[in-house]
Amino acid sequence: MLCLCALALAGCRPSLTPSKPLSELTPRELRGHQVYQAECARCHYANSQDGLRGPGLEGVFRKKYLASGLPANDHNVEQSILYGRNMMPSFGNDLSQQQLDDLMAYLHTL
Ligand code: HEC
Repeated sequence: MLCLCALALAGCRPSLTPSKPLSELTPRELRGHQVYQAECARCHYANSQDGLRGPGLEGVFRKKYLASGLPANDHNVEQSILYGRNMMPSFGNDLSQQQLDDLMAYLHTL
């Protein structure tokens, strides 16, 4: 019975297990979190699949597909970050390789 209620509340969204809590992030993931807060948080929720200016990124790598329908893999996410995508600006000139690597590590914890 409880299970049925949970399913009903989740609606048609695939329900995800919780993301890795901030308190458990490795130093590298934490640095990525800082990059995310500075560059991405104004347009993307990290803890929700709801859209802000861009799609919510909760579970971005735990789902099969990105909002665009492309497979959710490192290559496709890095392409959006480096070159932008429609209304999303590009960050290729703003992020060092280190910052990009840290950011990717953090995105994998969502
Ligand atoms: C000014 C707002 C804005 C900022 C800042 C921004 N994004 Fe986006 N992002 C968007 C929008 C809008 C889309 C939807 C693009 C589209 O039409 O497919 C998007 C799409 C995405 C997608 C999904 C791509 C796909 O194929 O569906 C990812 C992943 C993403 N952004 C990651 C990031 C990350 C990581 C950052 C920080 C470096 C970031 N975004 C910064 C607006 C933004």
